[in-house]
Amino acid sequence: MYAQMVKSNATQEDPEKLAAFQARIDAGEKIEPKDWMPEGYRKTLIRQIGQHAHSEIVGQLPEANWITRAPTLERKANLLAKVQDEAGHGLYLYCAAETLGVSRDQLTEKLLNGTMKYSSIFNYPTLTWADMGAVGWLVDGAAIMNQVPLQRTSYGPYARSMVRICKEESFHQRQGYHVMMAMANGTAEQKRMAQDALNRMWYPALMMFGPSDKDSVHSEQSMAWKIKMNTNDELRQKFVDETVPQAEYLGLTVPDDALAWNEATGHYDFSQPDWTEFYDVLQGNGPCNTDRLKARQKAWDNNAWVREAMLAHADKKHARKLAAE
Ligand code: 3HC
Repeated sequence: MYAQMVKSNATQEDPEKLAAFQARIDAGEKIEPKDWMPEGYRKTLIRQIGQHAHSEIVGQLPEANWITRAPTLERKANLLAKVQDEAGHGLYLYCAAETLGVSRDQLTEKLLNGTMKYSSIFNYPTLTWADMGAVGWLVDGAAIMNQVPLQRTSYGPYARSMVRICKEESFHQRQGYHVMMAMANGTAEQKRMAQDALNRMWYPALMMFGPSDKDSVHSEQSMAWKIKMNTNDELRQKFVDETVPQAEYLGLTVPDDALAWNEATGHYDFSQPDWTEFYDVLQGNGPCNTDRLKARQKAWDNNAWVREAMLAHADKKHARKLAAE
């Protein structure tokens, strides 16, 4: 449906301009904010970058929950730094979206009124300290798998923001795996907690890559425009292939009876997540959807005075500048 809409918009645009634009993309050139771009390209980027920015911001919530309960000072400092990094990622991404003509306030409004999404994964709870390990290992691991190729995406500001984000996400993945190693090699109870965290996070992590290729609405057009560099299933498979040996090293079991190495394909065979659950979470019915949006709404309301003060200061500065001219 959306793909059709994008195509019909495209057909209303100058075919010569469209062809020249596609040629630039095909030649691997970067598109910059002031360059001409099809309306569908701009809208798709705003949707994807905006959703990505919201994911970084909402993604702070399940981990912030554990900052005050981290087991050691070192773990606390690491987690604090990670959560702060996520805030920074959100800001780079909102800035990248702003270059496409949409303000951060407009994007936030869409998040809060439910017309823009954020990653499904953050609608699941973090129940034990082991979840801090599993989130870093699996969630940041899945994020990196998706975002490393996006460093080569066609839109310049998005590609450049991805470079720094990926460096930081790699540290997040490593610190998560480090927590998992400590838990998996700890007491029997700690190992049980690590296994339980893997059991609960595995399928939601697989869902992060989006619906299977046959159900993905945007992939075809987004890949032609190099807004996406791989299909959802390609990245999901890559994630499984890289993560299963890491689980084995930890001595943990991936919760999938059908998981098996396939000599012929050179990949693991694995079970798909429950797609009904995925769409249900997208509809707002996940275990934490209501809490997450409530927390964002509260932060937005409580910080209104900061935005007003900043704007008043900016207005005064502007007025002084005009008076001096
Ligand atoms: N969660 C929520 N919505 C999802 C989703 C997910 N895991 N996967 C897909 N969707 C939505 C899409 O947004 C689309 O809905 P829309 O038309 O209303 O926007 C619909 O499901 C159909 O899916 P498509 O495959 O057609 O959508 P896309 O082509 O946009 O592919 C994507 C989905 C792979 C997530 C792509 O948007 C993408 O690569 N985005 C950039 C990366 C990103 O957003 N990552 C967030 C991860 S979390 C994170 O980075 C935080 C860090 O701290 C861990």
